[in-house]
Amino acid sequence: MNEVKPINKNAPNSGYHRNTIPPHDPTLTEVLPGTPTGEYMRRFWHPICMVEELTDVPRYLVILGEELVAFKDGSGAVGVLHAHCIHRGASLEYGMIQEHGIMCSYHGFKFDVDGTCLEVPMPTGEEAEGCRMAANLCQGAYKAIEKHGLVFAYMGPPEEEPPFPEWEGDFTCHPDDKLVPFSNVQTCNWLQVQDNAADQFHHTPLHTTALIPGHEQGTTFGEAGANAYLVRPDLQFFPVHGGKSMAWTSSRRVDDDYMFIRINHQITPNVSFHSYLFEDGKKSKHFSRVHMHRWTVPIDNTTCKMIGWRGIGPNIDPRDVGNEDLIGYEKIDFLEGQCGMRRPERATFGPGELPPVPDHHRYRNAYVDAQHAPGDYEITASQRSIAVHALESPMKFDGGVYLSRKQLRDAVSGDNEDASPEAWKKWLEEVNGKPNTYCSGNVLAIPKCASPEEEVERRRDVAKRCIAAITESDNLPKSERAAFVKQKMVEIEQHYAN
Ligand code: FES
Ligand SMILES: [Fe+2]
Repeated sequence: MNEVKPINKNAPNSGYHRNTIPPHDPTLTEVLPGTPTGEYMRRFWHPICMVEELTDVPRYLVILGEELVAFKDGSGAVGVLHAHCIHRGASLEYGMIQEHGIMCSYHGFKFDVDGTCLEVPMPTGEEAEGCRMAANLCQGAYKAIEKHGLVFAYMGPPEEEPPFPEWEGDFTCHPDDKLVPFSNVQTCNWLQVQDNAADQFHHTPLHTTALIPGHEQGTTFGEAGANAYLVRPDLQFFPVHGGKSMAWTSSRRVDDDYMFIRINHQITPNVSFHSYLFEDGKKSKHFSRVHMHRWTVPIDNTTCKMIGWRGIGPNIDPRDVGNEDLIGYEKIDFLEGQCGMRRPERATFGPGELPPVPDHHRYRNAYVDAQHAPGDYEITASQRSIAVHALESPMKFDGGVYLSRKQLRDAVSGDNEDASPEAWKKWLEEVNGKPNTYCSGNVLAIPKCASPEEEVERRRDVAKRCIAAITESDNLPKSERAAFVKQKMVEIEQHYAN
């Protein structure tokens, strides 16, 4: 009898034993109507486009797999309607924007921004019948609002609508700073883009030129003097707000006298708050707030948009590194490789090739550039159109990815009642629609330990103390909270003095 040899998938040259691809996880990744995560997501407000995308013609959009048109009517009201007219299906992207609502170009039905049918055209003398018909019809519509250059829509059941979350009332934007909107399409499933926000370990290899010898383009962290990212972080992950979200610390030392503790905050299902991006880690800083507030909004199952605000101004960015001109529709000012189009001034051209005009030549070498120095855009898309979790080999530093996926799974399945849509709505009502974020950039005057082992222990202890201080401040009035956390950070520094 032939001996059956066990298969060792980890043996050298054994690609054959890994040549079949298991399916993706549909529960977490798929978002069309009726899917678990799709239904969960529909219980939250999401940014769907930038206000600047609303012009004199309707804007066709796909969000969560639904075809929509967004527009601003003559009275300034924003409408988000199902794209296909309820009469006979023509797309309202060809509709005529009215003083109130929009008119379908095919037969002239008019709809208000909430979908109310305002008019069904009829021959002269039969107008009354048109009014009767209109009263019984409604185009599919979603409530929409504008905030700081973004259009938000609530796409769930109207009776379950939660308060719009105004994080900390002003999105933590200091009066000297401003929120600058952006929207960048990503060509892959939404979850791997969201996972990437929880994956802070990639900053060092992916975003620093030091590790891409000979290919200097592709990063701005180094150019921005944000040398902290040359040091691999020690990552700690903390479930907070009853499992509705996860705060995480990335701790590094770029100076023997200072420890840089970056705290980001990821919210179920698709929000992430990022503290100061261009930190050099060499100057004391306590509780600097949000530098980027971002949503990963699914377009469909294999495309999404990274949409949100970047903070610009002297308070959040004292070294004035950010560039407002490079933030907006399909552009962002930090790091190359965040959008589908690379910046023209960075495109490389070989001998005899045309300069970066006209447009069709502009990005001709983008793929080669991307291979030399890829960014998040290329890397997340390269994980397959929908990443296959079953094929991953998790490391300790991936803990944030797995914790946030677990938080999502528990929320969607109902295993964590605190993260259910009902609990979210109740919580937002309790905090008057102004929940706190833990996001903060911190550089603490804490000296380096004598041994590497003590240093590991110290940075983890400091991270825990910072999270404890911010957690403790959660119920304080906004006017007292920042001062409380800053005082706690001074106390943490004093604890380690000498
Ligand atoms: S299809 Fe829109 S009015 Fe007929
Ligand atoms: Fe990145």
